[in-house]
Amino acid sequence: MKITVLQGSPHKKGSSNLLAEQFIKGAEEAGHSVTILDTAHMNMHPCIGCDRCGMNGECVHKDDNNIIRDTLLNSDMVVFVTPIYYFGMSAQLKTVVDRFYSYTTRLSGKHLKAALITAAWDANEDVMPYTAEHYKKLCRYMNFEDVGTVLGAGCGTPAMTKDTVHMQKAYELGKKLI
Ligand SMILES: Cc1cc2nc3c(=O)[nH]c(=O)nc-3n(C[C@H](O)[C@H](O)[C@H](O)COP(=O)(O)O)c2cc1C
Repeated sequence: MKITVLQGSPHKKGSSNLLAEQFIKGAEEAGHSVTILDTAHMNMHPCIGCDRCGMNGECVHKDDNNIIRDTLLNSDMVVFVTPIYYFGMSAQLKTVVDRFYSYTTRLSGKHLKAALITAAWDANEDVMPYTAEHYKKLCRYMNFEDVGTVLGAGCGTPAMTKDTVHMQKAYELGKKLI
């Protein structure tokens, strides 16, 4: 399976990418090929809602969205990787999601598998449900098949993250993929 990992953190060596690394290790061991797109460091502009694309055409922005689009349209699975910012995904990753708009029809027709990997400072149970619900709704709308989530509560720094159960969970999520 061709898997595209959409990293959404400004921290290249941060907590969410550390969890994603574990996922990738498992997925590659299981024979899948993984493409990593560090979307937080790509040239991406937010959707301006001009509707010029008509949800299925060229976007007015000339930036790296075409790379993300072409990679996703050539994938079997997408993995959303994000730090939790005020109970949601990062603006960097949300920008990528909003820019699905110009190829929504084509992307939803792919019936991709999908997963979510998050990292937040707080360890309490009120930190993740909002992002998890958003992700699940996005899957339903985009015809993605949710194959799992790693909700990294208590993963405020890489040092905190590496001692959590989420490392193993991320690895296993990748490893068990079929
Ligand atoms: C703008 C901003 C908002 C944040 N909001 C939350 C939050 O709502 N809840 C929380 O537990 N941590 C919050 N954090 C902490 C990060 O989620 C946490 O440090 C995470 O490990 C960062 O992941 P990264 O290293 O992959 O970027 C926030 C951090 C920033 C910079």
